[in-house]
Amino acid sequence: MKKSRTQILLTLWKWSAIILTIVVVSMVLFKREKPVSKKQTPTIIKDSKDPMPKQVKAEIDPETLMTPEALVKAGEKLIFSTEGPQLNDMGRFPVGKGQCAFCHLFAEEQKLTRCPDLRTIETRSHERIKEARYAAFTKQYADAPDPVSQLKPKATTGGEYLIESLYCPNCYVVEGFGKEGSHDQESPMPIVSEMPMLLNDYEMVAVAAYLQAMDTPDDYSKVTARADWERYFNRKLEVGEDKRPVVQASENLTKTALLEDPPEVIIEKMGCFVCHKIPTVPIATTGLIGPVLTMKTKAIERINSPEYLSAVEMNRARAVTPREYVLESILDPAAFVVPGFGDGDGMPTDYGRKFTVGALNKLVNFLLTLDENSGKNPDGTEPSKPGSASKRD
Ligand code: HEC
Ligand code: HEC
Repeated sequence: MKKSRTQILLTLWKWSAIILTIVVVSMVLFKREKPVSKKQTPTIIKDSKDPMPKQVKAEIDPETLMTPEALVKAGEKLIFSTEGPQLNDMGRFPVGKGQCAFCHLFAEEQKLTRCPDLRTIETRSHERIKEARYAAFTKQYADAPDPVSQLKPKATTGGEYLIESLYCPNCYVVEGFGKEGSHDQESPMPIVSEMPMLLNDYEMVAVAAYLQAMDTPDDYSKVTARADWERYFNRKLEVGEDKRPVVQASENLTKTALLEDPPEVIIEKMGCFVCHKIPTVPIATTGLIGPVLTMKTKAIERINSPEYLSAVEMNRARAVTPREYVLESILDPAAFVVPGFGDGDGMPTDYGRKFTVGALNKLVNFLLTLDENSGKNPDGTEPSKPGSASKRD
């Protein structure tokens, strides 16, 4: 009895040990196998290509992104980068990919007056096309299209006017808002479908849809932007992809600064060296038209200068950080003119159209590393200080 009991216990012990080992081993094997099976999953899907896209299509029906409400929501994000944007302490809205809120007024309390007020633009859009000025622009471009956009003014509805404003700012220039010296014939508004904003067609329609719904919250009955776009361009609108990272294939690609370009090459391609001395950049040692670009130290100085603060007061300048200051200097040079550089040729005003986002960010980052001690620039001191002798001739 005793013996058989020990034997039974022993056998039990043996078996449980064996079972335990099997369990442990199989668990280890199972765990190891998991990534293998994971790896296989995509292969299986890849092999059966047909069912996949169908599933995806069924899930995201482009039509659901085309409803007035969806377009308006997308437009809001493109303009303000967020839903339900709030003004900050300085009376500014967050700025989205379209950069519209950088220039335009969208709310009473917003501090900005340099560009047309976009409140009630839906109503105005219908009036615009009936104006004698609109007819005059149509006549002006009757023979040849606007050389910048290659389009002609031809809007027949308010919605088409809004679409046209985005693709062809020169097609109609709001009175009093034209480029300086152009007698309101040339628009300072960048074409937002081009660099650096690069809104795609869907995004252009979304932005226009937002403008149409802006004055009637939660009422989308005026949102006709998609039909307006399709009539204007005589083709069907498709949901586009974010094309910002992709450089537009254009004939002057060689002149387009790319993300891969080192800062020196970006500076060369964009022509900054023509006017600016830039420490450490061999090509940029002679420019005298603009200040030396030692932005690591200067950007902060500028933002805190009484001149800048008064430009902020006047709702022209808006940078709060050194980075914003440098970006603003490049994209919106009229926001603030460095004291001593007031008259004559200043910064080109069309960089907003010429930069890729990647190259611009890279250049700004680079400029923010430069101070008076970078490289050996005898002029690295303050050529731009008010009252200093080194004003432009
Ligand atoms: C750098 C400043 C700037 C940016 C950025 C900008 N605009 Fe403009 N916009 C202007 C100026 C200046 C005008 C007036 C000149 C003209 O009519 O083209 C204008 C005109 C317009 C008009 C015509 C207004 C009217 O009363 O007829 C519309 C609509 C418009 N912009 C929408 C937009 C939208 C939407 C965006 C963003 C996707 C945008 N703008 C981005 C400066 C800008
Ligand atoms: C045609 C001449 C010209 C070209 C080209 C030019 N700039 Fe300027 N830039 C100026 C002038 C003049 C000023 C000073 C007036 C002003 O603030 O607008 C200036 C000011 C600046 C400032 C502000 C400097 C400060 O001390 O606060 C920055 C930053 C700047 N430019 C960057 C650039 C960059 C980057 C490029 C090339 C992408 C460039 N500029 C191309 C003429 C030019």
